[in-house]
Amino acid sequence: MKIINIVGARPNFMKMAPIIEAMNKYPDQINHLLVHTGQHYDEKMSQSFFVDLGMPKPDVNLEVGSGSHAEQTARIMVEFEKVCLREKPDLVIVVGDVNSTMACTITAKKLGIKVAHVEAGLRSRDMSMPEEINRLCTDVLCDYLFTTDHFADENLAAEGVPAGKVHFVGNVMIDTLLKHKEVAGKLDLLTQLELQPKDYATLTMHRPGNVDDKNILQGILEALTVIAQEMPIIFPIHPRTRKMAEQFGLSHYFTCGNKVTGIWITEPLGYMEFLHLNMNARMVLTDSGGLQEETTVLGVPCITMRPNTERPITCEVGSNVMVGNSQEAILREANKILRGEVQRGQIPEKWDGRAAERIVDVLLTVGR
Ligand code: UD1
Repeated sequence: MKIINIVGARPNFMKMAPIIEAMNKYPDQINHLLVHTGQHYDEKMSQSFFVDLGMPKPDVNLEVGSGSHAEQTARIMVEFEKVCLREKPDLVIVVGDVNSTMACTITAKKLGIKVAHVEAGLRSRDMSMPEEINRLCTDVLCDYLFTTDHFADENLAAEGVPAGKVHFVGNVMIDTLLKHKEVAGKLDLLTQLELQPKDYATLTMHRPGNVDDKNILQGILEALTVIAQEMPIIFPIHPRTRKMAEQFGLSHYFTCGNKVTGIWITEPLGYMEFLHLNMNARMVLTDSGGLQEETTVLGVPCITMRPNTERPITCEVGSNVMVGNSQEAILREANKILRGEVQRGQIPEKWDGRAAERIVDVLLTVGR
């Protein structure tokens, strides 16, 4: 079976790494190529993850770079079509919900190539999120839908997807977390930053809904400034957020330099470094998707600054709370955590480090 695996943006890399590792166990049965669309291209947004996760260098890089949604999606489609025509794969595997996921799915399907979606069935029901559009378009076209939890299975069933296409396998992002947790735990980063375990917070924030409007971004930064009076907040700042904060004249909310105080910004961190910081944090504040899942498995309280989540399992059984982006709500929840009122939660079913193995098992049995 000839398979093309697709990655494009930062959250794809840790999902694809265990799938490649699981495929490597069957060299006689699976011939796989890795295509990087180049949606993310900065060393710290892309290359550093290949090193940290021990991933092979991509066989092909489409080098599409940034642009509007239409430009980026179109460039990926034009370039990926050439790869499909040249390589003639039996199957294309996409992960997550970024523009690369949807663009490669549409391209492959129109050439009659089967597509598998890993992390299928997640729904925020929020069509203002580009990721929701990507998820819907991808799932409706895919031949194999690999899901992380029962909510995803129910969403797909409600949309009329035949049960035979859906395979509940668990969470590949957690495969990667469990594999690297021990080594990440031994890093010496806290000493270097002069931090104590459970005496700081980490933050990620890059969603257009939070950072593209000056008033919203300023409101969030005001709330974070109050929290940062209790303990420093480490913020590996996404290029998009840095650009918007500069444009709105809000960069004075951030601190940088050797001493970690206030809302302390740093370049995007490597996978291991950030895992180390998150596992030792008192709380995590985020608008990301994957971090809601990682904190659930780490048992670290997570405040998600979004009005909805496509990952409700992290609130149902995990340590995640949705608060939206109002100052009051962010502060209310952070104060609860500071008072020790935390929801530790449990680990969802099949988030056990073996999701990628299950995916490859399915492909080797029904995927022929
Ligand atoms: C994308 C995904 C989002 C994911 C996020 C993780 C879509 C629709 N969005 O959002 O789901 O959570 O990745 O990071 O696919 N930029 C750089 N260097 C890079 C990449 C981007 O400077 O290596 C800057 C550019 O100014 C670019 C902007 O970031 O225009 C946004 O990048 P883009 O890939 O369009 O979306 P993200 O916001 O990163």
